[in-house]
Amino acid sequence: MMARRLPLLLLAGLAAGQGLPPGCNPDSVGEQLAELGLSLDPNATWTGPLLKAEADDVDFAYFEFGNASGPTVVLINGFGTTMAEWGPILPQLLAQDSHVFMFDNPGQGLSIDYSQEPLTIERMAAATTALLEAAGITGDGAGKPILLGWSMGGMVALSMAQQWADKWSGLVLVDTAAGGPDMVLPDAATVEALTCCNGTEANQVLFNYSTPAGLAGACTFEVGAGWMSMALGDWYPNATTSAAQAEAAYAFEQSNSTYAALPAIALPTQVVAGADDLVIPPENAQTLADRLPDAQLYEIPDAGHGAWVQDTADFASRVKEFLATLADADGPVVTPALAAAPPTSAAPPAFGRTWLAIAAVTVAFAATL
Ligand SMILES: *[C@@H]1O[C@H](CO)[C@@H](O)[C@H](O)[C@H]1NC(C)=O
Ligand SMILES: *[C@@H]1O[C@H](CO)[C@@H](O)[C@H](O)[C@H]1NC(C)=O
Ligand SMILES: *[C@@H]1O[C@H](CO)[C@@H](O)[C@H](O)[C@H]1NC(C)=O
Ligand SMILES: *[C@@H]1O[C@H](CO)[C@@H](O)[C@H](O)[C@H]1NC(C)=O
Ligand SMILES: *[C@@H]1O[C@H](CO)[C@@H](O)[C@H](O)[C@H]1NC(C)=O
Ligand SMILES: *[C@@H]1O[C@H](CO)[C@@H](O)[C@H](O)[C@H]1NC(C)=O
Repeated sequence: MMARRLPLLLLAGLAAGQGLPPGCNPDSVGEQLAELGLSLDPNATWTGPLLKAEADDVDFAYFEFGNASGPTVVLINGFGTTMAEWGPILPQLLAQDSHVFMFDNPGQGLSIDYSQEPLTIERMAAATTALLEAAGITGDGAGKPILLGWSMGGMVALSMAQQWADKWSGLVLVDTAAGGPDMVLPDAATVEALTCCNGTEANQVLFNYSTPAGLAGACTFEVGAGWMSMALGDWYPNATTSAAQAEAAYAFEQSNSTYAALPAIALPTQVVAGADDLVIPPENAQTLADRLPDAQLYEIPDAGHGAWVQDTADFASRVKEFLATLADADGPVVTPALAAAPPTSAAPPAFGRTWLAIAAVTVAFAATL
């Protein structure tokens, strides 16, 4: 049974059975949580209960939690993974002054896709919009949700903005691209590293291993995603869906539609790029910033495709500053009441053991290849 399910970390492009990046301390995520005064609960009870909603023939799984008097931030994750990839740090930091909504993409993790239609970025965008409506995540002014998408999730956010700009109050686009004629694709060596072998080299092109900051980001990502996977019981991406997502992202990159629409997407937008991103090179972020009428770009030095995770606290504070400018521009926020319990504190869990449990399953999978 295990052999038929691809572990999160493998599909995130991380090395099966290769262990943590060099020098990665499995306790580092717990140390960061403690330093930031965030909940260390290994069961992540701060997310509140798992919620379900049917929208556009998708049985979605989602969480909503955080500060009910803040704006709603919708986290849209990337290719081949589940919402566990956000780890325990970023969602908790954002939840301090926002209402955080996170979900599994159609057919991924705990979200079951019953649609007979092919998976496209546009269909993911429509289904996500329908999910937010089904969950009552709508509002006026600064009460409208802000879409924060990473990589393929940024493409979904862009498509949501292209199709229904009046439903959102802003965008945060991280390590992503609009496709079209100016799209800068990864070079052949990067594609080779991402697809060759067994994932050994993939982590090194997702993160910049040649800088201490890049290594630290890779460590936080691997340990954090593993932590959330265990906590949410949600850490098996679906290989069939991942293959369909790859096709969908490729078709989006080839299409001119969203690229051509960018000048008409007038939403305030924060564009974020890893200066060393080899997977979606930072030139693509420059294109977004140039063509979107109300966008600001910042590049994170020494960061690869996982730019936001490299210094999660700094990324979160920049997102918060951006959210504050939206609230100032649009007046008070009115968002729906939340089901979530307040964050709790608990004794630090045994992160080493958590990681070992994940690694054991990952190695068991690798052995069946
Ligand atoms: C986490 O969940 C497990 C299993 O339900 C339970 O045994 C454990 O006490 C929980 N840990 C915390 C810190 O709540
Ligand atoms: C909730 O967030 C708002 C800003 O979005 C902030 O002013 C307020 O202090 C936060 N409340 C709590 C309890 O942290
Ligand atoms: C994986 O996704 C496909 C497409 O949505 C679905 O048909 C299949 O049942 C899923 N597999 C699992 C194990 O959930
Ligand atoms: C993965 O591939 C690398 C290089 O091709 C090889 O050295 C390593 O042993 C392989 N690991 C596994 C778990 O198959
Ligand atoms: C793509 O869109 C741009 C902007 O509308 C346009 O200038 C360009 O000719 C289009 N390219 C193709 C291949 O359709
Ligand atoms: C990683 O960062 C170093 C130092 O900034 C830089 O010289 C190198 O080109 C980067 N490597 C990659 C693969 O981007």
